Amino acid sequence: MRVHHVGYVVKDVAEAIAPFVLLGYRKCSEITRDEGRRVDICFMQHNGFCVELVSPWDESSVCWNVLKNGGVKPYHICYETDDYGTQSTELQSNGWVLVAPPMPAPAIENKQVAFFYHKDGGLIEIIDKGE
Ligand code: NI
Repeated sequence: MRVHHVGYVVKDVAEAIAPFVLLGYRKCSEITRDEGRRVDICFMQHNGFCVELVSPWDESSVCWNVLKNGGVKPYHICYETDDYGTQSTELQSNGWVLVAPPMPAPAIENKQVAFFYHKDGGLIEIIDKGE
């Protein structure tokens, strides 16, 4: 699978853009509201490397606890696959637990996105390229 982005949980996406600009990143999306996950999202890129800034709205948001417990930090790596069905089965046969089933991601052209967790591998996100 190809790496798509590294996701950072931040307190406020709008406030987090400037420090990344200083590091050489530029915005490659507008700030998108994801109603389902209750977060704001903005993608930024530097030399082909993509980061996703994610800020939870409140305690009902998907990564509220990540921010509350660990502060601003990278918290997932996202991969994209041409064959979600096969990949999902293989991951789950090898210790990865599906923690958030596929759901459209408004910030990624409404592609289906799922999250998996492994006790020794941490949190990953998988984009179903749907091709
Ligand atoms: Ni992500």
